[in-house]
Amino acid sequence: MDILVAYFSPSGTTAQAAKKLADELKADLFEIKPEKPYTAADLKWTNPLARCNREKLLNQKVPCQEKIGNISDYQVVFIGFPIWYYAEPNIIDSFVEDHNWEGKEVYLFATSGGSNMSKAVEKLNTKINGGIGGSKLLNRSSDIGPWLDSLGL
Ligand SMILES: Cc1cc2nc3c(=O)[nH]c(=O)nc-3n(C[C@H](O)[C@H](O)[C@H](O)COP(=O)(O)O)c2cc1C
Repeated sequence: MDILVAYFSPSGTTAQAAKKLADELKADLFEIKPEKPYTAADLKWTNPLARCNREKLLNQKVPCQEKIGNISDYQVVFIGFPIWYYAEPNIIDSFVEDHNWEGKEVYLFATSGGSNMSKAVEKLNTKINGGIGGSKLLNRSSDIGPWLDSLGL
């Protein structure tokens, strides 16, 4: 079975979870990148004028650098991201809108500073045709194995 782990991780934490997931699943990895990369200053949410805050407040679309050309090769796709403002970053909405999810099993994972991912799951469920098969906050890498076991993967 062909599995893809796609992730957005501007500061590297979600990337670690994504890599471990891909290792355990023997899956392919794809990094979701914005057309314009985020600098450290762009992510400084304590600065009201930082890019991240402007994008959130203005509900700006954040386009992806590239689409997955061969998405039809994958039956199972995991999508990972950091929690931003209690939900998914805007670039994840672009990524989800860029692809057709019909007939695929889609699973979500996230890392955060403590927030849960229920709002992200609720919002993305309306955008992913076919729906989401499961989701997990992976702030502890020891949660990965039991989660995959529970999914039967
Ligand atoms: C713009 C921005 C907004 C964030 N909002 C939240 C939040 O609402 N709740 C939370 O627990 N953590 C929040 N965080 C922290 C990140 O979710 C956390 O550090 C995550 O593990 C970063 O993943 P990454 O290294 O893959 O980018 C936010 C971080 C940024 C940069």
